[in-house]
Amino acid sequence: MEKGLASATISIVDKSSASKSLNGRESINRSDSMFPDAPTETKPETAVLSSKVDDGVRVISIDEYKEAAQCLAEAFKDDDVARYFIDTPDRAHCTAKQKWDLHVSIMEYVTYAHCLKGLVTTVGPNYGAVALWMPPGKNMDDLYTILRSGLWRLNYKLSAEGKKRFFTEFLPLLHDTKHSILGHRDESAWYLVYIGTRPSSTGKGYARKLIENVTRVADREARACYLESSNDVNPKIYRKFGFEVKRKIHLQRAEKGVELDIMVREPAPEAWV
Ligand SMILES: CC(C)(COP(=O)(O)OP(=O)(O)OC[C@H]1O[C@@H](n2cnc3c(N)ncnc32)[C@H](O)[C@@H]1OP(=O)(O)O)[C@@H](O)C(=O)NCCC(=O)NCCS
Repeated sequence: MEKGLASATISIVDKSSASKSLNGRESINRSDSMFPDAPTETKPETAVLSSKVDDGVRVISIDEYKEAAQCLAEAFKDDDVARYFIDTPDRAHCTAKQKWDLHVSIMEYVTYAHCLKGLVTTVGPNYGAVALWMPPGKNMDDLYTILRSGLWRLNYKLSAEGKKRFFTEFLPLLHDTKHSILGHRDESAWYLVYIGTRPSSTGKGYARKLIENVTRVADREARACYLESSNDVNPKIYRKFGFEVKRKIHLQRAEKGVELDIMVREPAPEAWV
């Protein structure tokens, strides 16, 4: 996947960072002010991005999270990383429907968490494509987000092996890798956690619109963009948008390992914007 469960769940296992999100600047305008005491400083560029329809791209409201998650579930139905936590030996007895339902649930938790703390954009009819972004300085580590989004349910929805893969292998690896690659920029980069286009809507330029909607802002703010990619084809696509592979990492608990490309997009020089 453009797997990006990373940001969401890092905090579930990394208690040391649990307060970071509460200290971060609130840069996204939201109608559901469930966090009345949170800091309210707003960065102008990001606020604009969240409030206007641009090139057909719009920010979804929180009551649309299920539709948005459904798009991602369909886009990532065969994704090696998405399946890594579900297709475990101790779930061999589960039906395809049970596995699909779990896959959809995971997408719903993560999408909801991004509605709360990140940025969820869509383009095209019927949520043709959806992107989950974590803006600079934001994360989903706080208890409030973990509880409200349902992410905490993964503790009992995943099998024993699924939990080992997710909590003790995947999340720490993604967290440490992001920090190691971005260094001091870890808190100031845009993070593309997931992007997916419904199989019936691919090839219409939707992913391009969703990505460029944010990379334009990243360029103006001179910020890097970061992502992890789990599909062989994707690095080629991301290179079109200025991302470059910085490292390859591996998930190794399954019989067949899963490789992820870590990609970073540097802000474009002014002349290129
Ligand atoms: C990858 C994915 C998001 C592309 O979505 P999309 O809406 O079809 O992409 P776009 O139509 O905006 O295409 C963007 C560019 O990538 C290229 N591209 C898209 N799919 C491609 C593929 N399978 N192989 C090669 N190039 C591809 C397009 O030609 C286009 O380039 P261009 O603008 O220079 O012509 C979609 O196929 C998907 O959801 N895949 C499964 C989930 C996933 O892997 N997500 C992470 C993806 S990057």
